[in-house]
Amino acid sequence: MSEKPVESLSEGEAAEELKRLAAEIAEHDRRYHTEDAPTISDAEYDALARRNLAIEARFPDLVRADSPSRRVGAPPAEGFAKVRHAVPMLSLAKAYTDQDVADFIERGRRFFDRDKDLDIAFTAEPKIDGLSASLRYENGVFVQGATRGDGAVGEDITANLKTIADIPKKLQGSGWPEVIEIRGEVYMTYAEFEALKQRSAAVGGQDYVNPRNTAAGSLRQKDPSVTASRNLKFFAYAWGYTTADPAPTQYDSVQKFKEWGFKVSPLMVRAKSIDELIAQYHRIEEQRSSLGYDIDGVVYKVDQLELQRRWGFVTGEPRWAVAHKFPAEQAMTTVERIDIQVGRTGTLAPVARLAPVTVGGVVVENVTLHNEDYIKGFDSNGQPIRDGIDVRIGDAVVIQRAGDVIPQIVSVVIDKRPASAVPYEFPHTCPVCGSPATREINEKTGKEDSRRRCTGELICAAQAVERLRHFVSRGALDIEGLGAENIDLFFNSGLVKTAADIFTLKDRRPAVTKALAERREEQARLREEASGKTRKNVRSVEERNYEGLDKLFAAIDARREPELDRFIFALGIRHIGETTAAVLARQFSTIEELIRVGKETAKAEDPHTVFPSINGIGDTVINALRDFFGNERNDDVLDALLAQVRPKPYVMEISAGSEVSGKTVVFTGTLEKMTRSEAKAMAERLGAKVAGSVSAKTDLVVAGPGAGSKLKVASDLGIEVIDEDTWLQRIGRGG
Ligand code: IVH
Repeated sequence: MSEKPVESLSEGEAAEELKRLAAEIAEHDRRYHTEDAPTISDAEYDALARRNLAIEARFPDLVRADSPSRRVGAPPAEGFAKVRHAVPMLSLAKAYTDQDVADFIERGRRFFDRDKDLDIAFTAEPKIDGLSASLRYENGVFVQGATRGDGAVGEDITANLKTIADIPKKLQGSGWPEVIEIRGEVYMTYAEFEALKQRSAAVGGQDYVNPRNTAAGSLRQKDPSVTASRNLKFFAYAWGYTTADPAPTQYDSVQKFKEWGFKVSPLMVRAKSIDELIAQYHRIEEQRSSLGYDIDGVVYKVDQLELQRRWGFVTGEPRWAVAHKFPAEQAMTTVERIDIQVGRTGTLAPVARLAPVTVGGVVVENVTLHNEDYIKGFDSNGQPIRDGIDVRIGDAVVIQRAGDVIPQIVSVVIDKRPASAVPYEFPHTCPVCGSPATREINEKTGKEDSRRRCTGELICAAQAVERLRHFVSRGALDIEGLGAENIDLFFNSGLVKTAADIFTLKDRRPAVTKALAERREEQARLREEASGKTRKNVRSVEERNYEGLDKLFAAIDARREPELDRFIFALGIRHIGETTAAVLARQFSTIEELIRVGKETAKAEDPHTVFPSINGIGDTVINALRDFFGNERNDDVLDALLAQVRPKPYVMEISAGSEVSGKTVVFTGTLEKMTRSEAKAMAERLGAKVAGSVSAKTDLVVAGPGAGSKLKVASDLGIEVIDEDTWLQRIGRGG
């Protein structure tokens, strides 16, 4: 839930996210297909894959060569011979709701729009939760069997498949094509699974997690007699390469399979309408628990092969089929405790600790309770809130893992509420640093934020790393060579806890060297692991020469007298961005003055009696300053910091002399040397006025690449237009 919605990702973030997802999904594919030991549920996996697709849909240019959407499954494991599938083995698009199914059918209708009288028929059959296999028959004889692998290349497991009774070694009846690859699912029944577990327990053998993974492991045995002992089963439901269609329709083809000696699902039907499909879905769902094997949905396929061919494929999936998944499973458990976690921005996030319970094959022990109002079930005005629940410690709750990732509480079982259960008291202090935790009022809506936040700012350990990263970032102190990565390292190794510690790093040179060396070692080790190669000459830690370290210390020293606006911004006070920091710097001129006024304001009953009225500074900022300077615990941190750095007093000196002083400037297009807010702050520092749109009052337009309509207006009005470099030269910053 902490994930940013796809709609609000910037292009850069999207690229990063796609990279992360590609790596993460590849790893899960490997665990699932190659090791038969998945670490996340199918629903979680699907959620990752869907997020990947959604981002790719928004940023088609960012689709990676190694995108999960371009491949199916994981590469085959070592040990078995590889088999290239003559026709790739595909996966299925998924539907979670009746509406998704209706959309699928509608897509079909639209696709075949030209054929108004076309009667599209469908088949509906259970989605078996096992492993797919492809069986090649030449002249009716089973010659080769393979796993799906990555969809293109699988593993040759012919010997193991031959031990499965449901797989005919020779096709029965007649009329089979000269060559056909029969595809279907290898699975294990619950009865067989239980029997195997018992046999194994009796001899102190391994434990087996679930039938699917056990079936997978059984198929990949080196010794076919082990596979034989597992009594696996097989349903045929599709085909790959063939010299002739088995029949003109999906349904009749599968009936042919039956004649040829295969087991096919008895629950497969042909249907004409969405109502019939959904009815079959529910019929199958009803029988789910008595089937004796795992199924996880119902697969719908276009019946007419001719239409299947016309509708075709998207990457890795047929357009003409969809898997309608069963809804998330639910389970009941109790809330044992409610813990408060403090996020990096100081948000207090409540988490229910549950008595562990298995839902859809995964043990759930924690579930987010979102915020204070959610737990109460109503907001601070006493209004019931949407999706809110009154949940208390000791309550029995129904939880589910919905069609995607996160487990959630569906409802509280009020009948089971213990008499002792009292409404949960949300803490008003931060559990990490003890500072007051408050809910802000949104200035625009007048509404209270649903999140309570720690006001500990500089002193709260939970927020510490994030603040340190901010402190050294570009618009702030901008210390060269001290990026987020090094900050994380120094923080985690205890070398830097607060911003002041950065400036005393030099005194701890040996410890810094050690931390950097350890990280290098670790990185080298990881690289080695990934490549499987060992390094030739391993230099010892002492031998390493960190000439970069002197540079880093020099860069830190170079920032001991930062510009006041950068320093104020670097403090990371809420709601104080670069622009506001510049306004405050101009107003107060020295850090001492800002601190003095800030503290006075914090003490005053009505802040406006103390804090001057400044253009561009509203109550949100004033309240943030009150919180910050009113928190005595920030004093020590600030004192320690000011013992190390002396922010330069803000002097107007340049403005009078500056060429742009008094001019109205408009920035448009992409700036390459600075952010828009930096540019604005800089211009204002020089006494210019920065406007958002071009008008007759505009004196100067600074245009970067991609500048659009503003440029045209400027030229129509005969206003001077310059590029970023010229601008920088003009204000004396050009190189
Ligand atoms: S049809 C061209 N039918 O689901 C379509 N697949 O998510 C190929 N599966 O890899 C698949 N039951 O392992 C089909 N009745 C069924 C199925 C089924 C289970 C599996 C199969 C496939 C995966 C796709």
